[in-house]
Amino acid sequence: MKKYKVGIIGATGMVGQRFATLLENHPWFKVEVLAASARSAGKTYKEAVGSRWAMKVPMPAKFADLLILDATADKEKIAAAVDFVFCAVDMKKDEIRELEEAYAKLECPVISNNSAHRSTKDVPMIIPEINADHAQIIHAQRKRLGTKKGFVAVKSNCSIQSYVPAVHPLWDLGVEKILACTYQAISGAGKTFETWPEMLDNLIPYIGGEEEKSEQEPLKVWGTIEGDEIVPNKEISITSQCLRVPVSDGHTAAVFVKLKNQISIEDIKARWAAYKGRAQELELPSAPKQFLKYFEEDNRPQAKLDRDLEGGMTVSVGRLRPDTQYDFKFVCLSHNTLRGAAGGAVLMAELLCAEGYINS
Ligand SMILES: NC(=O)c1ccc[n+]([C@@H]2O[C@H](COP(=O)([O-])OP(=O)(O)OC[C@H]3O[C@@H](n4cnc5c(N)ncnc54)[C@H](OP(=O)(O)O)[C@@H]3O)[C@@H](O)[C@H]2O)c1
Repeated sequence: MKKYKVGIIGATGMVGQRFATLLENHPWFKVEVLAASARSAGKTYKEAVGSRWAMKVPMPAKFADLLILDATADKEKIAAAVDFVFCAVDMKKDEIRELEEAYAKLECPVISNNSAHRSTKDVPMIIPEINADHAQIIHAQRKRLGTKKGFVAVKSNCSIQSYVPAVHPLWDLGVEKILACTYQAISGAGKTFETWPEMLDNLIPYIGGEEEKSEQEPLKVWGTIEGDEIVPNKEISITSQCLRVPVSDGHTAAVFVKLKNQISIEDIKARWAAYKGRAQELELPSAPKQFLKYFEEDNRPQAKLDRDLEGGMTVSVGRLRPDTQYDFKFVCLSHNTLRGAAGGAVLMAELLCAEGYINS
């Protein structure tokens, strides 16, 4: 099979490093370009990353000596060399919007982990198992940008990927209200215990901007395409609190759900066990066979034990029981830098290739 040529913009960062490890032996994608800021440009990947390498596996040998390009100054060269780029950069939002649209206008599709375009009405925010159909908005976006091939597609925030997947199979019962408290790993802030020792034996009850994202982004994921835009869902109400906890990887959520129509505990578990999305139907290379794994044990899911299920792409659920104020409560866990960041972006890229939105 002919492989798609890809670039990683922000390759030296935490998410970029994850992309490098996930793409090292990918069956469809071949990394041709690594790019970052002007600070890294001209250095080899090994030199530019230096002591920042934060993955548990070593840096892929085949990338170590690649020369880093400048994501802004070299964008024409990068766009010409690849079929699409993954993008995860730490820049101001307006700069990211500009950079991502510049690549799209150079006819280079952008699969983005950044939040800058998440509320842009014709930019799809796709969880392939849930709203794969939102890819259709790309036609409208191409019209606005004046492109034939280029577009931007984004991944949602990592916090919502712990609970939106578990709520989704209950959708037809009429989801009225969700309360979700998230307990988020330090890698979500691009940190390790070495770089953030203050987090040992600690909890911080605030993550800037995270509660707004946790409450708003699911509404777009559950929104509908109307004309040239995705209109967020207006039926459900979501409230959240997001806490930073001393866990290296894996975001946990304690979730409460109110439904318009009733269902038994056993039927919810059966729906979770049977649930399959477009990613499973298409048998995409990064799709977990079991999207939602339910644990009967009272003390599961646990971040350390369960975050890596099926390459960190399965969402774990446990402790489902009735609630006195809502209808049901349960606990969910997803790997924030795999399902929640780079892995989710790779899966979205696979979906968009399989559905014909990206060509090699
Ligand atoms: N960490 C997570 O779990 C997570 C999850 C979802 C989404 N995200 C999002 O992904 C993005 C990156 O996060 P991260 O944790 O990987 O950050 P990070 O570790 O701080 O890495 C930032 C990356 O951005 C590059 N960069 C900075 N300024 C740039 C510029 N002017 N031009 C081009 N590249 C530039 C850096 O390159 P240099 O090395 O050259 O400075 C580096 O590669 C952010 O938007 C974040 O919100 C992160």
